[in-house]
Amino acid sequence: MNKILVINGPNLNRLGVREPAVYGTDNLQNLEERLQRAGRDHEVEVECVQSNHEGVIIDWIHEADEKFDGIMINPGAFTHYSYAIRDAIASISVPVIEVHISNVHKREEFRHHSVTAPVTHGQIVGLGLYGYELALHALLQLRGEIK
Ligand code: DQA
Repeated sequence: MNKILVINGPNLNRLGVREPAVYGTDNLQNLEERLQRAGRDHEVEVECVQSNHEGVIIDWIHEADEKFDGIMINPGAFTHYSYAIRDAIASISVPVIEVHISNVHKREEFRHHSVTAPVTHGQIVGLGLYGYELALHALLQLRGEIK
């Protein structure tokens, strides 16, 4: 495997200042650098993108099918209602892992349901930013790169 795409959705550009009791104090740049470092350790290129716009995220998902070997996505609040992002994920064949920083099941009821998770390979929830590193390992393992 050589290329992984990390997609962060709406409001995740606010990491570090946004509800730190829920999402922690590290910002998006810290997260992206951490993932790129972890990628280098495994000789994998990690590209990170973030958008607050549904259509932009959909375009990235479509394009990734040709260009990347795996995707991890935190769709933010789109998780709970974006059938368009769900359909975009269903339309591609590279494996997708959904990540949530917070334990959505401990929070408001509208966060308990993911419309996107059923079309992903798997979901990691509630483990903070570490969840993204786990997703990277899971994508590598899926391709037989690590045990
Ligand atoms: C989130 C959980 C969502 O409910 C919320 O809308 C987010 C972040 C998480 O990472 O815990 O924006 O996806």
